[in-house]
Parts: sequence; C-alpha cells; structure tokens
Amino acid sequence: MKIGILTSGGDCPGLNAVIRGIVLKGTTSYDLEFVGIRDGWRGVVDADFFPLTRHEVKGLAKVGGTILGTSRTNPYEGDRGGAENIKATLAEHGIDGIVAIGGEGTLAAADRLAKDGVNVFGVPKTIDNDLGATDYSFGFDTAVNIATEAMDRLRTTGDSHQRCMVAEVMGRHVGWIALHAGMAAGAHVICIPEVPLSIDEITAQVTSAFERGRAPLVVVSEGFKLKGQEEAYSDKGLDAFNRPRLGGISEILAPEIERLTGIETRATVLGHIQRGGSPSGFDRVLATRLGLHTADAVVDGDWGSMVALRGTDIVRVPFADALGELHTVPLSRYEEAAALFG
Ligand code: F6P
Repeated sequence: MKIGILTSGGDCPGLNAVIRGIVLKGTTSYDLEFVGIRDGWRGVVDADFFPLTRHEVKGLAKVGGTILGTSRTNPYEGDRGGAENIKATLAEHGIDGIVAIGGEGTLAAADRLAKDGVNVFGVPKTIDNDLGATDYSFGFDTAVNIATEAMDRLRTTGDSHQRCMVAEVMGRHVGWIALHAGMAAGAHVICIPEVPLSIDEITAQVTSAFERGRAPLVVVSEGFKLKGQEEAYSDKGLDAFNRPRLGGISEILAPEIERLTGIETRATVLGHIQRGGSPSGFDRVLATRLGLHTADAVVDGDWGSMVALRGTDIVRVPFADALGELHTVPLSRYEEAAALFG
C-alpha cells in the first residue's frame, strides 16, 4: 500500500517527529510505501510528490518545522481541486490514502474529502491546544517552555527597572499557552480569550504587585478581549482562511496600564518564536507515538478518523470529534491560577 503524508496549516514543533514515526513503523512493521506531499493540500492538487523512505526521516524527531513544507491551500479550490480530481490524481500515482497532519482547517478539509470518498486519516496539530478531541496536542508543550523561558527573562529586566512587563503569547481562541506559561513564570495577571477582563481589573492586580515591591508581569493571549471589546485585536489584515491575523493586543494594553497606574510599562509580542525550533522531549514522544499509531490505523483502513491523546493513551476518533467544540480553558482552571494574581 502506498500512502502520501502532508502537513498543512501553521507549522508546529513535532511535525517531523510524527512523519518519522509513521514512516519507521510503516516500513519496518508493515510493508507500507510512502510519498511526501509538498506544501499541504497544494501538493495533492498539483501532484507534487516525492519518495519518502527511512533515509529521508532519519534523525528527524528533534528537528523543528516540517520537511514537507506547509500551506493554507484549500483542496476544494482551483481547477484541479475537489474530491473527484484528487481521487484521479491519487489513482494516477498509485497512492491509496493520505495522512493529513494539521489543525482545525486541515481536519475540516480532511473530513469533507473523506465523506466524498477520498481515503484520508488525520493527525491533530496545534500549539494553541484548542482541538476538542485530544487532551494535549504536540507543539503546545514546546510553546509553553519557550514562552516560560522568555517570561523569566522579562521578569529579570522588569525587576531591574521596576517596570511592568506585558508578555503576549499565541492563542487565537483559547488561553492554554498563556495559562500554563503564566503560571510557570509567576505572572501577576493572566488575560485569556475565555475570560474578558476590564482594564481596571488588570491594573488592580498590577498595582497590588507593584506595591508589594514586585515588577508586575502581565501575560496576555493574542485572542484576549477586554470587557466590551467585540473582536480580538487585529491590525494586520486577513489570512488565507479569511481569519483576522491576530497579534498586538499587548501594545494596546501596555500604554493604558502605564497611563492608569503611573508604572512604566513595556510590551513584548513573542509571536512565531513560539512555533520555531526543536520540540521538547514531551512533544517528541507524543508526536512519535501519534505517528506510530497512525501507521497501525492506515493498515487497518480506518479512514475518516484521526489519532488523539486521551489521558496517556493514543486513541482513534472521528474527525467530527475534533471539529465540534473547541478545547477551551475551563473557568475552574482559570480561577485556580487567579488565586496567585496580584
Ligand atoms: O493556530 C495556531 C496559531 O499559532 C495561532 O495562535 C495564530 O493566530 C496563528 O497560528 C498564526 O498563524 P500564521 O501567522 O502563521 O498564519
């Protein structure tokens, strides 16, 4: 059986470890043959394939990015897109099925293609940790470690100058990175998309920390909205899925905090640094296990579903489970962290 592997959507530390896991198990335990598909669904539509052997995946568990490249191409768009064209392209190249590694947009496309008769299996990916079907997604732990390390650094310079430091992390719809990195770094207030706060609620914590002689650290998710704010802050236009490009809310909050408290305040947007570089040990193991189980699922012909982490087990779930509700931060988790604010 010949299987194509693609990575699609925003990249994430651990993508290469998944690819390696699939290819190693698929070629050693089973007699699978693999092709790499370049740049996500773009490579499917354009038939941009190359042989993917054990040789190509050697040493990949620790390597950031994706050797396959990625894009935000919609497989239903363009002259050569759509399920019927894709089935014909795959048949022409003797490809029996596709493993699609991606987030919400990728899995939605995979779900539609599977319903239209294309053999697709999924591996969930998101540093935001916002997919409903899986307890944790690979890339999240690495992002938290990077953000924590950055905040530790912000705290030492903040301490030297007695400044308030505002650290902005990724998290379009959910605040997992902010919650975990903020707790780890001892933030004095954490602002997440699930819990709108007023500027007065934020400055009350900042002032309280400052009056205790601390240099306040405010952690904010890019998708955070102040009370009364309808949309998350965006001044960079739309992405390929017509979603607003987020980033910059910290630059709005910092001068307001300074104006209302009189404390000199600086903003830092961590941005794509959180998605780059080597995956953490945890993410290497999780991504590799997802890859190994994917090889089993492909041999079983379990198309139309994806692997997921439940507790410590890797399970298979239908695409629909990942596409239903977002994996948001429960209020109880936020309140737990809030006991440490101020
Ligand atoms: O979905 C993951 C994510 O990292 C979001 O937090 C962020 O809004 C988005 O990707 C940014 O993606 P890009 O700038 O690569 O299009």
